[in-house]
Amino acid sequence: MFIDTHCHLTDKQFENDIEKVLSCSKDFGVSSFITSGYDFASSVQAVEFALHHQGVYASIGVYPEFAPSLDEQTLEKIKDLAQNKKVVAIGEIGLQFTENCPPKEEQIKAFEKQIELAYSLKKPIVVHAREAMGAVVEVLEKNREKLVYGGTMHCYSGSLESAKRLIDLGMYISVGGVSTFKNAAKLQQTIKALPLEKILLETDCPYLAPHPYRGERNSPAFIPTIAQNLAKIKDVSVDEVAKVTTKNAQKLFKLEGMDAAQI
Ligand code: NI
Repeated sequence: MFIDTHCHLTDKQFENDIEKVLSCSKDFGVSSFITSGYDFASSVQAVEFALHHQGVYASIGVYPEFAPSLDEQTLEKIKDLAQNKKVVAIGEIGLQFTENCPPKEEQIKAFEKQIELAYSLKKPIVVHAREAMGAVVEVLEKNREKLVYGGTMHCYSGSLESAKRLIDLGMYISVGGVSTFKNAAKLQQTIKALPLEKILLETDCPYLAPHPYRGERNSPAFIPTIAQNLAKIKDVSVDEVAKVTTKNAQKLFKLEGMDAAQI
């Protein structure tokens, strides 16, 4: 049994066949899914989708690209939305220092406000970093005392040093399709050096399909492909990867009671 800890099931690319995608993924052993919002509207969609689908949970928050939309009113609305029992995390939140993104200070402010929100809600965070890993680690270290409910660094592609600092903060390292790419030798070396007890699996679908499906629409059904590659990197069985990463995700997102209740 596998858990896809980060996906976008309400993405437009799934609008015609999501039920089929979910049942096919379940056939491949993927039993739970955490679908993620990236702004307020998509967070509402994620929660509604989770409410109507067994085994689907929601992560809600405002992505760095939309940091300017996070005013006090929106923050309050996210807080209200988080009262829903299917909301298991705040995210994806974080920093992205690429072209056409909001100013760094504005992104950091939105990131910190949502770390604070997650702490007040006693929920873990799901963190996104692009071209900004150093700054993300810095912000998290500065807010160390607010990370008691943990979090995950989604779609990890940073260095071993950053991964160690994140783990030291109580974060999990989430491994997705990028780890299977032919040019991912350095990332694979990093993953090899990390304890399996700190690793989660994710697809980030519909983006970043694993090798040999790179470029195609990604789906939670590709989790076993990512897991097989991880098993090879760690020199353990796929069963071991499934068992340990599922336990990690259940612990971080407190899914155990919910899975039993089949909500
Ligand atoms: Ni994502």
